[in-house]
Amino acid sequence: MSRVVVTGRIPETALENLRANHDVIAWESEGSISREELLRRVAGADAIVSLLTERVDAELLDAAGPQLKVVSNVAVGYDNIDVPACTERGIIATNTPGVLTEATADIAFGLILMATRRLGEGERLIRAGQPWKWGMFFLLGSSLQGKTLGIVGMGGIGIATARRAKAFGMEIVYQSRSEIDPAIADELGARRVELDELLAVSDVVSLHCPYGPNTHHLIGAEQLAAMKDTAYLVNTARGPIIDEAALALALRENQIAGAGLDVFEQEPKVHPWLLELENVALVPHLGSATVETRTAMAVLAATNTLAVLGGEQPPTPING
Ligand code: GLV
Ligand code: GLV
Repeated sequence: MSRVVVTGRIPETALENLRANHDVIAWESEGSISREELLRRVAGADAIVSLLTERVDAELLDAAGPQLKVVSNVAVGYDNIDVPACTERGIIATNTPGVLTEATADIAFGLILMATRRLGEGERLIRAGQPWKWGMFFLLGSSLQGKTLGIVGMGGIGIATARRAKAFGMEIVYQSRSEIDPAIADELGARRVELDELLAVSDVVSLHCPYGPNTHHLIGAEQLAAMKDTAYLVNTARGPIIDEAALALALRENQIAGAGLDVFEQEPKVHPWLLELENVALVPHLGSATVETRTAMAVLAATNTLAVLGGEQPPTPING
């Protein structure tokens, strides 16, 4: 029996899988665990199943102790984990790629539609009890057919978003660290370009790259200025990829047409200007938030945990 500490509430199926063979200590409350409580609870853990709201750094790894073997993040992004600190201590870190690809691409596309078709504005207007009727020029947005979607970070989620865009009649350009499978590029008619070109030619820019030192404020004042003034920016990746203050200013000055954000620089805080603006759709980090997807993520994290505790290679390691 190993000791498994789960840092937040996760779906029951995953907990049951862990409980079958291990001593599981799970945080069961609605709110996030406090840092002090977490540092206390991890003492003696062989495995930590972490949520993206918890920072897994050297301090936490050391509070767990030298028997700690695995940190399983219930997320595809793992900027909350100090991976080198895990590696130095011989700890395997894992994430949950694949299982949330389609759900996150759905939200990216939802935000593209919200922003380009002004759905949030329309909803707010009705709820505010304002008078309205159909009008030739009432709440006109921008069509997607024939427009260009620029995808920054063409991993699984970027590709899934591109597939949706193709079905909507859009052209696709992408920027990525590596070339994608030529068969997929052909299927999508997707052209790889540098970020400068992507920003200049895209009518919608959607971010799907991981967050890290290389992508911190990847989109700042200069990049926003390089976009068309009719273009939209959508972020379902990580908040700090965008300089949020620069975006708020660009939106306020109509330097770009609009934006759709699922993630924020300092969640759950949102830049106050964004709250006042009509040309930005705001949703609270819902990319993977379906019953099916969250269950699959937690089950994959449990599978990773059980594999490492059983001396086997986990299905989706980050290091090692
Ligand atoms: C969610 O944001 C994730 O990285 O899984
Ligand atoms: C997107 O998911 C990426 O990893 O580039």
